[in-house]
Amino acid sequence: MSLLEPLRLAHGPELKNRLLLAPMTNNQSNPDGTASLDDLSWIRLVAAGGYSMIMTAGANVQRNGKSFPGQPGIYDDRHLDGLTEIASIIRGAGSISSVQLHHGGVRSLGGEYGQPYAMSPATGARQMSTAEVEQLRDDFIAAAVRAKRAGFDGAEIHGAFGWIISMSLSPIANRRTDKYGGDLEGRSRLLFEILHGIRQETGPDFQIGLRLSTERYGTSLRDLRDLAEEAMRREAIDYLDLAPWDVNAIAVEPEFENRPVLSIFTELDRKQTRIGASGKVMTGAQASSVLKAGCDFVMLGRAALLEPDAPRLFAKDPHHQGPETPVLYQYLREQGLSNAFVDYLLMDHPALVARGWL
Ligand SMILES: Cc1cc2nc3c(=O)[nH]c(=O)nc-3n(C[C@H](O)[C@H](O)[C@H](O)COP(=O)(O)O)c2cc1C
Repeated sequence: MSLLEPLRLAHGPELKNRLLLAPMTNNQSNPDGTASLDDLSWIRLVAAGGYSMIMTAGANVQRNGKSFPGQPGIYDDRHLDGLTEIASIIRGAGSISSVQLHHGGVRSLGGEYGQPYAMSPATGARQMSTAEVEQLRDDFIAAAVRAKRAGFDGAEIHGAFGWIISMSLSPIANRRTDKYGGDLEGRSRLLFEILHGIRQETGPDFQIGLRLSTERYGTSLRDLRDLAEEAMRREAIDYLDLAPWDVNAIAVEPEFENRPVLSIFTELDRKQTRIGASGKVMTGAQASSVLKAGCDFVMLGRAALLEPDAPRLFAKDPHHQGPETPVLYQYLREQGLSNAFVDYLLMDHPALVARGWL
């Protein structure tokens, strides 16, 4: 199967190829979460890059879930104008648009944004009441409806990396005794209520994705696999977005030891659900090998930062190799990334960018 083949999802418009832009925090939105000029110019840049789907940075669905000072928000109608502009830039470029829906939970900023909470008490965060879990569910759903009103083709639930949904799945981080805790069914209840609520409120054309981590953050591979299988069985999602940070990761948990992590999910009876992954894909040939391993699509993260038009470059030459990392600050500025974005990368991704001469 070729990277350039279109991909049909169970709902909504077809993707024109198999290369999607991974969700990436840019820390450049306005402090109130509305889109900044830097947000719009980044979207214009990647919209010209040839991705079949462009996903936004994780956008917080509640004020107190904000986890980066420059994180985009999607919890209030004041965010609609910017979101509408982003969706229309993406559509204008012939790509599909998706907003990633996020809540930071215990890792939220707190302070002026409101007190952080978590599924179970943790340092700096109190335990949510059952009513608050239900409110969070409703706010995820409301955020997806807002994305649809803004013209987005879909939304992805951020269930990875230890943020609130990922924590709710973990028996270590979620020790609740109400219906949102306990066995896997209880711990995934919040997620499934969100997924079903979004489908109900957004209708048959809206594309719903789910991002999961693999082998970290306290949820076993067995549970993650069973959860993915259940989502496929219920046709609750259009696509499963696996985030192992390395598409060639090998499982270490005894039950799956030495098996490629992706295979644990690609061997499931996926029905209408599409499966994709991101992690250290830096060339077209590497992206093709992810399809050969059984995935339907590949997401590009760091390759897109180094070369925002990576899909076009990969299409021309599958062995095209981007620059060696770390690149200099000025290099990323010349690619069109904003000062705020590159400053954030310097802080959080020092292997990617070095300060160099300013
Ligand atoms: C700067 C940066 C910001 C990221 N922000 C997010 C995010 O907002 N949401 C998310 O789910 N993943 C985020 N990720 C993870 C990426 O989506 C991706 O899974 C990861 O970078 C591995 O893919 P890559 O090796 O192609 O970069 C981020 C990664 C980077 C490098």
